[in-house]
Amino acid sequence: MSESTVAAAFDVYRYDPAHDAKPRYQRYTLNLSPHTPVLTALLRIRAEVDPSLALRYSCRSAICGSCAMQINSKSRLACETHIGPEMARHGRIVVEPMRNQPVLRDLVVDQAPFWRQYDRIEPHLRLDPAHPMPEGRPTPMTPEEVDRFKETPRCIACAACFSACPAVEADPEFPGPMALAKLYRFVVDPRDRAHQDRLVRIQPNGLWLCLRCHLCTEACPKDVRPSERIRDLKEMAIAVQGATENGSRHAVGFKENISERGVLNEMRLVRQTYGTVGLVGQLGQGLKIVRKKPEVARKPHPIEGVDELEKIYAALDPEPKEGP
Ligand code: SF4
Ligand code: SF4
Ligand code: FES
Repeated sequence: MSESTVAAAFDVYRYDPAHDAKPRYQRYTLNLSPHTPVLTALLRIRAEVDPSLALRYSCRSAICGSCAMQINSKSRLACETHIGPEMARHGRIVVEPMRNQPVLRDLVVDQAPFWRQYDRIEPHLRLDPAHPMPEGRPTPMTPEEVDRFKETPRCIACAACFSACPAVEADPEFPGPMALAKLYRFVVDPRDRAHQDRLVRIQPNGLWLCLRCHLCTEACPKDVRPSERIRDLKEMAIAVQGATENGSRHAVGFKENISERGVLNEMRLVRQTYGTVGLVGQLGQGLKIVRKKPEVARKPHPIEGVDELEKIYAALDPEPKEGP
């Protein structure tokens, strides 16, 4: 091994559902430059060591989105993840298929769940006759209007965010970060006539299932920042429809609790979220919590300096976000 190479150990997920009872990990070791992308290493493994390894790729330039996979437990593009830092941090490189999509073979997944959610948000303009396409011009929008969705066109549909999302894992009907970021793009487009309808329809069993963990934003190789667009959608949904869902009532109640006292009154928050009738349904669970933590049943005293919190809220959020 020369000084400019590292002995890179790859533990690669192998599984062919047609022939294997269960998945296994295959170890391959190659001497490579630390700047070698994981994809290049996998292609060398396939060309020189094991031609049966299945993987998906195309551009090798972080453009097509085909090579997304789990690399040391993070959803990444294999063509832009270099082996040097991975070896330095983890001592080996574990390569697995993306999550939340069924494995077809080895590192290749069936992306149907991802694309099904994308279709669900109707990713096309429903045109507003008040904003027709002017003849001879590509768009009637101002630069400021275009600026509102400047991040979303960067998306390369790699599904790294979908793979990283715990809400998708918990509920396969959750639209997922990329679909919601795309929805945002149409909701703020002034040519679209359906932004209210889109916001109303995405809420039941959809928008509010997002846990605000930001793992999608962390995983996104193109800085689309889906979790921030989902936050914007939530604000717009409340502006359009009020707090009508458990999720939106929870968000509004949380804010009220914190701005009024600086701490959560958990009993009050449950009532704000589920209503008095719903609170009865939560009683069994509530009693268990109160037995463990009796303080949650007491109304908390406001924290010192609580009036500063209102100023912070006012400074952070002077106006609720609205669609076009
Ligand atoms: S912030 Fe929401 S959409 Fe993004 S990964 Fe977390 S749960 Fe999923
Ligand atoms: S939002 Fe980012 S991570 Fe998600 S599909 Fe688009 S480019 Fe990939
Ligand atoms: S091969 Fe196209 S993004 Fe990696």
